[in-house]
Amino acid sequence: MQAVKPTDIVLEIGTGSGLLAMMSAQAGAEHVYAVEANRDLTALAQKLIKQNDLDKKITVINKLSTHVKVGEDIPRKANVLVSEILGTLLLGESALAFVSECRQRHLAPGATIIPAAGSQVNCARGSAKGRWFLGACANAG
Ligand SMILES: C[S@@+](CC[C@H](N)C(=O)[O-])C[C@H]1O[C@@H](n2cnc3c(N)ncnc32)[C@H](O)[C@@H]1O
Repeated sequence: MQAVKPTDIVLEIGTGSGLLAMMSAQAGAEHVYAVEANRDLTALAQKLIKQNDLDKKITVINKLSTHVKVGEDIPRKANVLVSEILGTLLLGESALAFVSECRQRHLAPGATIIPAAGSQVNCARGSAKGRWFLGACANAG
């Protein structure tokens, strides 16, 4: 994760187990704020982060990202946003809306967003019985 510099604040949306937050901390971020809406997963992330001795570098915030406030939950706007809230065909968990909202309110100018893009590929396929199927796949990077 070369995007992270020692002076960077990293914000993660939907930390789950805390894996990306821990990778960001190990990559050298000044501090990582890991946001998780689910209370049980917040507790799990906190436990795993402590077990990995990264609890001084990572703060887990039990909130929906849209409820996070700069100056209250995080001290200043973040330099890097990481997230893995990709649902079915990328957008099933409203990733675009959450990342876009976060970019407007929580990111410093020029901040790095990971992943920065995604694509969907759809194709129609005919069967021997004359029925049509829609095949689809997606990726982000
Ligand atoms: C696919 S899981 C992420 C797993 C995580 N990357 C990991 O390694 O464990 C998505 C997680 O994001 C959380 N989530 C989704 N959208 C969110 C949002 N806008 N704010 C906070 N948490 C969110 C969900 O509760 C869920 O735990």
